Amino acid sequence: MTRIRAALKGSIDRRTRIDTAFWLLGLVVVIVFLRWTVTPGGSSRLADFLAWVQGQGAVGENLSDYMPSRIETAERMLEVAGVGPDDVFLDIGSGDGRLVVLAARAGAEAIGIDRQELLVERARDNAAMAGVADRARFVHADALDVPSIVERADVVAVFLTIAGLSVVGPYLAEVLHPGTIVVSNTFAVPGWRPESVTMVEVDRRWGRTPVYRYRVPEAFAGDAGD
Ligand SMILES: C[S@@+](CC[C@H](N)C(=O)[O-])C[C@H]1O[C@@H](n2cnc3c(N)ncnc32)[C@H](O)[C@@H]1O
Repeated sequence: MTRIRAALKGSIDRRTRIDTAFWLLGLVVVIVFLRWTVTPGGSSRLADFLAWVQGQGAVGENLSDYMPSRIETAERMLEVAGVGPDDVFLDIGSGDGRLVVLAARAGAEAIGIDRQELLVERARDNAAMAGVADRARFVHADALDVPSIVERADVVAVFLTIAGLSVVGPYLAEVLHPGTIVVSNTFAVPGWRPESVTMVEVDRRWGRTPVYRYRVPEAFAGDAGD
């Protein structure tokens, strides 16, 4: 009996030692990986790698990296723009297609343009899953290269960096027809005068996000004062 108990105890001790060794090994691997992601110069290899992945299948000029609008903000953008069944809605840089799907659900003919092929594929899947594939179209292109699509829009949505907006602003001013509504998430279009700025309550971490609404051509007449 004593011998059996001793053998059992020995086996448990051995298993505990093996478990501990595995945990320590895992910890070392994690520490080495995290250390590896930061180069001696302080930049992050992980960030570089993600940027590289993100750029795969991308065309044209990068007006913003991908970052989805919060769903509350996306819904509010469409509400602020007043998207309805008679509108052609366009999201410049449509990401996973969430605004386009919402606009198609509101009855609009909805179009998304994105420079990243993987996102265009994901957006098409999302539209199919939402049952709006017949009203939601996604184009893989640099939005700056397809004025014949952009000029059809009655409502344009953008969520781009300030640098991206300073490129897109003059392009839209040239291409859009009078009466077109433009809504921008978070950042104002440089040099444009908004008709309204709506603050969207997101959550405690994000706080409040502005949504800018512009009307063509009033947006670019006179001093913007932004
Ligand atoms: C911040 S995300 C916004 C995604 C989406 N509109 C939303 O609000 O959820 C910006 C998107 O713009 C796309 N983009 C950047 N430059 C572009 C360009 N020149 N033409 C088309 N899409 C572009 C990016 O690939 C990215 O998906």
